[in-house]
Amino acid sequence: MSGLTLDAVASGSPYVGYVYSYPHKTAHRPLEPALPLARVWAEEPKEGLFGYVHIPFCEMRCGFCNLFTTTDARRGQVTAYLGALERQAAAVAEALGAWRFARMAVGGGTPTYLEPGELERLFRGLQDNLRLSPEGRLASVETSPATATAERLAVLKAWGVHRVSIGVQSFFADETDALYRPQRAAEVEAALQRIRDAGFRCLNIDLMYGGAGQTPARWQASLDAALAWAPEELYLYPLYVRPLTGLGRRGWSWDDQRLDAYRRGRERLLAAGYEQVSMRMFRRPGGDAQDSLPYRCDQDGMIGLGCGARSYTRRLHYAWPYAVARAAVRSLIEDYSGRARADFALAHHGIALADEDILRRYVLLSLLQVRGLARAEAKARFGRDPMALLPELEQLAARGLVLATDDRLALTERGLERSDAIGPWLFSQAVRENMETFTWT
Ligand SMILES: C[S@@+](CC[C@H](N)C(=O)[O-])C[C@H]1O[C@@H](n2cnc3c(N)ncnc32)[C@H](O)[C@@H]1O
Ligand code: SF4
Repeated sequence: MSGLTLDAVASGSPYVGYVYSYPHKTAHRPLEPALPLARVWAEEPKEGLFGYVHIPFCEMRCGFCNLFTTTDARRGQVTAYLGALERQAAAVAEALGAWRFARMAVGGGTPTYLEPGELERLFRGLQDNLRLSPEGRLASVETSPATATAERLAVLKAWGVHRVSIGVQSFFADETDALYRPQRAAEVEAALQRIRDAGFRCLNIDLMYGGAGQTPARWQASLDAALAWAPEELYLYPLYVRPLTGLGRRGWSWDDQRLDAYRRGRERLLAAGYEQVSMRMFRRPGGDAQDSLPYRCDQDGMIGLGCGARSYTRRLHYAWPYAVARAAVRSLIEDYSGRARADFALAHHGIALADEDILRRYVLLSLLQVRGLARAEAKARFGRDPMALLPELEQLAARGLVLATDDRLALTERGLERSDAIGPWLFSQAVRENMETFTWT
């Protein structure tokens, strides 16, 4: 990544890395000494918090996936994990003092790997220990076709969850087989029917492009099959092959195929009346999509619960250590599950953002959205026009990747499809160095 030049951003691979947050967890390091959360949060605004809960269990380990998750959890391990979440929630509540959550999300892994009774316990524990419940706020839960059972969905609905996001990837079994994701189309359709029957306000479907055997016609057919459910949101993910995932060991890469599929997917969704929010995200206007929310992720704090969840204050980001390889993930889950409540009152691992990285984070999070960056707002926050603060923005504009008007900076169509190259290019030197020296396990 350190070798990423402007020329490469403009005409090399568009697929360098997905920037869904900044800095990436591989830039985190042990905090020595560990910091008491009461002190970390003392001066922070806590009126519009985002509560994120990480469930690191799945019924399958897909070949492409490098999320923090494990497949071989026994029920006893799940119970131990839920107990640790409750201890963490209680410790966080004590440290926060006064607070209010604006949003929550339960992600993974696959949260619906939990049995209905375990989901009940999860929500009850969050409510009792941290007043964090889906009811009355925008709340999202991730699911998978095999685990989106009527009983589990009923628990989510009863607790007031408004958005369910399901990973589909493809409606063709040979494509999902090639991704080492055992899944049948009939099972996917049945799961989507159950989600619609349960009556959630927002359905999101994840599709993936760039896998083996995915012809343009087959991609089109998967898009059409998804559109038949009129989802309020669709995420189109380019396939990434990263270190230590099943496919990563086989060394695949198909930039042209991915770029072509991106363009076809975008065109198809725009023609169907969807609005593009970012390179990956599309939403149905008038639908109850997640983006119409008051939470501003660069300003409002995030409370992450669980072994893979990040927490953010304005300056400190912290999380438990990160891993992808099976044995390391298992041992981190075990370590987390055995922690005492006192351990959860401290931030052990993370990164304190330099002023430069606070600016870069703001620019990244706004520029990588279609609506772009409002210059006056940025100027009010950082004292000067963002073009003057970050010369890279001028360079992107000179290459036709950013369009600068008097009030906004926004990616052009070509810039948008190169989001995953522009994002990593905007990282600071210090964050890059940390990421490059991270030891993958
Ligand atoms: C937590 S999963 C979704 C829920 C559930 N675990 C499932 O797979 O059905 C998040 C999404 O990230 C996307 N994803 C994960 N790894 C990816 C990769 N290597 N390349 C592209 N997309 C990826 C997939 O579309 C996946 O649905
Ligand atoms: S894609 Fe979803 S089900 Fe597959 S391993 Fe990743 S988190 Fe688990």
